[in-house]
Amino acid sequence: MLANNSILKDRWKIVKPLGQGAFGSIYCVSDLESGQLYAAKLERRDSKRSVLKIEVAFMRKVRKCPSVPAYITCGTTRSYNFLIEEMCGTNLGVLRKSRPEQRFSLTTVLKLGISMVACMKDVHAAGYIHRDIKPSNFVLGHGNNRVYIIDFGLARKNTDAEGNILPARKNPGFRGTARYASVASHQCKDLSIRDDYWSLLYLMIEMLTGFLPWRRLKDRERIGEMKAMCTTHDTLTSGLPSCFERLLNYIKGLAFTEKADHERIQSFFVEEMRARSLPISTEYDWSQTHPPMPYQPTTALYSRDQRLMRRPSCVSDPNLRRPSSLNQVHLPSVTSPTAHTDAVPIVSVRSPSVARLPSLERNTFSTSTGFSGEYISPESPRVVVETPSPPVAPSPLKHNSTTMLCSPRPHGSRHAHVHAHGTRF
Ligand SMILES: Nc1ncnc2c1ncn2[C@@H]1O[C@H](COP(=O)(O)OP(=O)(O)O)[C@@H](O)[C@H]1O
Ligand SMILES: [Mg+2]
Repeated sequence: MLANNSILKDRWKIVKPLGQGAFGSIYCVSDLESGQLYAAKLERRDSKRSVLKIEVAFMRKVRKCPSVPAYITCGTTRSYNFLIEEMCGTNLGVLRKSRPEQRFSLTTVLKLGISMVACMKDVHAAGYIHRDIKPSNFVLGHGNNRVYIIDFGLARKNTDAEGNILPARKNPGFRGTARYASVASHQCKDLSIRDDYWSLLYLMIEMLTGFLPWRRLKDRERIGEMKAMCTTHDTLTSGLPSCFERLLNYIKGLAFTEKADHERIQSFFVEEMRARSLPISTEYDWSQTHPPMPYQPTTALYSRDQRLMRRPSCVSDPNLRRPSSLNQVHLPSVTSPTAHTDAVPIVSVRSPSVARLPSLERNTFSTSTGFSGEYISPESPRVVVETPSPPVAPSPLKHNSTTMLCSPRPHGSRHAHVHAHGTRF
């Protein structure tokens, strides 16, 4: 970290840090020549991979884009590469977390949605995909409520000289941030415009409800597995305003090489506002003394109960290193009961606490709803659950009073692995 008041390249005085990211640090700097404030993004010169170069290349290209902070200059010092750009305000991740319920009203989410799509349109129109769409990569203007898109270190040119989208490359690797990355990214596939939109859908759900179904999972692979099960209306957008389902269906209909109709996507949000008589002129929540109530989802998927079930203030079992207190975790329904599939339709599972399992090799349980299970071992977070055939309708399983985080995966015709809530998540 650079100390306040230190001077970069004889011109840029460090005023205060603005953010610390995976690849570098961002500071508010004052231009000694004009006294104006700017943002400086610094990256150590000895870092293995320079993402700042990619960012500078992109920012130079989109100099006239109203949704990208203005590029000022770039340079190097003995230790750093740096980029000077227009100074903006708070990022949307920080803003959401500063709300009393850590979520925005529907009006604010839809208005932000319209603005974020406008930002993405500018990026895509320049022939790039962003590949790291997330709340902290959208910022407000400095002292105003305009929305800007930032952080182009993972951006990639995905078009040829004629503007056609390049075909997919084979297994280029994971790109993005685990919580918001698309399923394709988790599967290390090449990304396209539609993947930026998957991330937008996720972040808008989080803004509205305060969480995403995989909020408890830490392991990137597990998050990817869960996302892969949450791709339908029932499992991802049920209980939310219909524009979320419309966006979901639109994204699913986009081919890899297809450009998005950004105006159409914006119309989903505009029409939702119109249908609910929400005036576009309404101020954002943070600009109002009495902002509207947050949206109440109409199904259990994003119910308040689920949202409040955050990580418990648990007592960790030093042997098992997983919470031993009661802890309910939600899993969206995996399949419809009529679908012909091996996946197991479990919504959530309640079973004896893994932390309190006797140290038996095997420990079976059954439930009133027809599921039976078998712990492989108390140390292992994995449990095999058998379901009756045909699969029963999604319903919570109740057994004793403790719950596990479940991640059913197709496994044979009537089995699924269920991961107990533990340190792996
Ligand atoms: N131009 C800017 N004006 C104000 N704050 C900024 C600016 N650029 C970045 N930030 C802040 O710094 C954080 C990290 O910057 P970002 O460019 O996203 O870098 P990283 O690659 O480290 O994520 C952002 O989330 C934002 O809060
Ligand atoms: Mg960032």
